[in-house]
Amino acid sequence: MFSDIETILYERAVIDERVKELAAQVAAVYRNNPLVVAVTLKGAFIFAADLVRHLPETVEIVFLRSQSYGASTAPEREPVVELPPEFNWQGRHVLLVEDIVDTGRTVAALQNRIRNFGAASVRVCSFLDKPKRREVPVDVEFTGFTLQGDPFVVGYGLDFAERYRNLPFVGVLRQAGTQVETNPEPNAEANAETSVETDAESD
Ligand code: PRP
Repeated sequence: MFSDIETILYERAVIDERVKELAAQVAAVYRNNPLVVAVTLKGAFIFAADLVRHLPETVEIVFLRSQSYGASTAPEREPVVELPPEFNWQGRHVLLVEDIVDTGRTVAALQNRIRNFGAASVRVCSFLDKPKRREVPVDVEFTGFTLQGDPFVVGYGLDFAERYRNLPFVGVLRQAGTQVETNPEPNAEANAETSVETDAESD
């Protein structure tokens, strides 16, 4: 399975440390305010499971569904989002947990829906952010790692055609014709020089 991985961006130990730091940031913002952690399936399930176990206060957890990619590395259509029909969002402080913010369409659609249901606040916590791909402006309040360029990453919940979610690390999928720039430091714009040439069949 690992032979499909061109390079590893974030090893498990690095991820663990970063998730702990993120949980501390989240805890500092919400303090003792009751929090709803809204987990976007499927991609965010592993990140969310790790994140919530580092939070010092008990939280309520709900699962949302979004789908924007099929067996493809690019969004095929507007995301289809589903919220739990019975949940009362009125007056709740919501932390929307994502594995990755790419175009921003999924987060924007989910935030709008949750706000329309009367939530008091909706903040976004994304394990990865890929600002180069942004099409819709969204505020990502808590970010694990910012990807430079446009690598197609898998692992730690992220898939390609429903595979690779179970990899304990995040890696760049070996694919044709892609020049990617990667940055293994959390949000460190200064170290954006690393460049990885993937299997260039069609370039
Ligand atoms: C991925 C990812 C995010 C979304 C980000 O989900 O998990 O939810 O795309 O992309 P965007 O910023 O361009 O909207 P996907 O639709 O692939 O479903 P999955 O989580 O089940 O893999």
